[in-house]
Amino acid sequence: MSVRGKTVVVGVSGGIAAYKICETVRLLAQAGATVQVILTRAAEEFVTPLTLQTLSGHPVARHTFDLTEESEIGHIRLADTADALLVAPATANVVAKLAAGIADDLLTTVVLATRAPVLVAPAMNVHMWENVTVQANVARLRETGRLLIEPDSGALACGYEGAGRLPEPDVLVEEVAVAVSEKSLVGRHVLVTAGPTWEALDPVRHLANRSSGKMGFAVAKVARRRGARVTLVTGPTALEDPRGIECVHVTSAREMEKAALQHAAAADCVVMAAAVGDYRPVEIARHKIKRGRGDLDLRLTANPDILARISALPGQRLLVGFAAETRDLVANARRKLQAKGVQLMVANDVTAPDAGFDVDTNVVTLIDRTGRVERLDKMSKEDVAGAILDRVRDLRAPCAALRAESRRLRPRQ
Ligand code: CTP
Repeated sequence: MSVRGKTVVVGVSGGIAAYKICETVRLLAQAGATVQVILTRAAEEFVTPLTLQTLSGHPVARHTFDLTEESEIGHIRLADTADALLVAPATANVVAKLAAGIADDLLTTVVLATRAPVLVAPAMNVHMWENVTVQANVARLRETGRLLIEPDSGALACGYEGAGRLPEPDVLVEEVAVAVSEKSLVGRHVLVTAGPTWEALDPVRHLANRSSGKMGFAVAKVARRRGARVTLVTGPTALEDPRGIECVHVTSAREMEKAALQHAAAADCVVMAAAVGDYRPVEIARHKIKRGRGDLDLRLTANPDILARISALPGQRLLVGFAAETRDLVANARRKLQAKGVQLMVANDVTAPDAGFDVDTNVVTLIDRTGRVERLDKMSKEDVAGAILDRVRDLRAPCAALRAESRRLRPRQ
């Protein structure tokens, strides 16, 4: 996860949603971030310093003028060492103070003193959230470059229904990851395909494969973190739509082909991680196929090769394919690299332990058109996604540099 090695200061103010911060801090620390927590006085009414100290593994900062804490933690040091500062939950009071630049406690002082990105996650009663003064303060925060994490809608602790809920901890962690990630894909549109396809046999059965969609979803998430506009065309999976990503749901290979071709036209980069069914039944039975006495023969017809079709589209885009193999990994992947006209092939031995279908890790070999073959160690699918997108950045860079150079050398008209 891309918060690994980063220092995240988490400022907690006094609202009932403070209970969600315990899990947020745990997730950040588990993902390898150094987490420094600041509690306001009101926050201590909801969660204890001991809980957050235990979960973060660091002393919790509480008062600006406590000399012992000041010498150990130091509000300027907290502000300086932060790679990102997350204020969650941000009460209406804290939102107002941040909008006005008031620094009357440790949390608001550190927010003013830091040069790191500040994420503000307001959480409050729906009527407070809709109040014009609160909305004006929120608008002011946006204008001044604070990153707003909009509250969710739903049942609120105060008994009302509506906007004002603090998003779940995994969402907060993802937004921190976005804030601290490198931004090599800003201004780019990345199309990712993911998951299996289902080829219907009759109204209750289909032909499918074991793809969970995890690898493609990880690529989509990491591309968004790096600043890309991302479209994810996905076959049926059990995964939730990732935040901030346009998701297009399809079922069959032909539906995926239609959606992928439509979105590829405007994409700068296509990462085809989907496990597309190569065949579909010649006919879909209108009614459930009944059990007969003997065997059943199925006649299958070939599905289109979506990647090869995208590669034949006019215009320039960087294409990344995946080669799912059970033997002769590199030779087969090299052959597919040529046949499908892609710049980078991610070769995946799907029979290797902790690699391939439905696990959170993968073991892949990256093969590009220059002949470079790089076997990566076992790593999380998010880290594999990061390595693929590093290559996308590096493969693009020489093209951009060449274009810039040819513009420079072109004689003036
Ligand atoms: N792919 C595709 N359309 C298909 C089949 C595959 O676009 N009908 C894409 C996959 O998304 C992947 C790449 O092509 O990026 C290689 O897929 P893979 O299943 O490994 O290879 P196939 O071409 O299907 O060849 P084979 O099944 O014979 O290994």
